[in-house]
Amino acid sequence: MLNIVLLGFMGTGKTSVGQRISEKLQMSMVDTDTIVETDNQMIIGKIFDRYGEDYFRNLENAAVRKASKYTNHVISTGGGVVLRAENLNLLQENGLLFCLKATPEEIFERIKDDSHRPLLKGPNPPNKIRHLLQTRQVQYQRIEHQIETTNSSIEEVTNQIIGIYQSASSPPQP
Ligand code: S3P
Repeated sequence: MLNIVLLGFMGTGKTSVGQRISEKLQMSMVDTDTIVETDNQMIIGKIFDRYGEDYFRNLENAAVRKASKYTNHVISTGGGVVLRAENLNLLQENGLLFCLKATPEEIFERIKDDSHRPLLKGPNPPNKIRHLLQTRQVQYQRIEHQIETTNSSIEEVTNQIIGIYQSASSPPQP
C-alpha cells in the first residue's frame, strides 16, 4: 500500500493529523524531523545553531531517502522538504502526497507558543511566516492534493485525507 505523505508549512497540522490517520488506519507513522534528530542525536534547533540551514537540509534529504523506502506508512515531513525537488520525487515513488495549508494568521496562532522552530525565532514571527510562505508558494502548489485546514478540525482534515487515499487505492470499477 502507498504511503500517506503529509507536506506543508510549519503549523499546518502535519503531525497531529498524521497521528490521527495512523491511529484510524492502523498504519505506522514516521516523521522526517524525528529521523534527523534520532540519526544525528541532536535536536533541530541545535543543528541549525551549530551548522546552519544548508547542513540541516542535507540531513533532511537523507531522512527523506530513508522514509521514502517505506510502504504503508504515514510520513510527516518538515515544512522545508519541498525546497528540494528531489525530496518530492523520492516521496512520490511509494506515496500519495498531500499539502496541508492554512492562512499565515492561523499558522501564527497555532505556533506562537512553541519555541523549537529556528526559522521563526527573533522579532516579528508573523512577518517571517508571510515571507517564507510566499517564497515557498510555488513548491507547495505543485503537490497533487491540496488540503485547506484553516477552518477545519484535525478530525475533518484526517477524514478528508483518508477519503482521498482510499479512493486512490481502491481498484478501478469494471
Ligand atoms: C522547517 C520546518 C520544521 C523543521 C525545521 C525547518 C521549515 O518542521 O523541519 O525547523 O523549513 O519549514 P515542521 O514543519 O514540522 O515545524
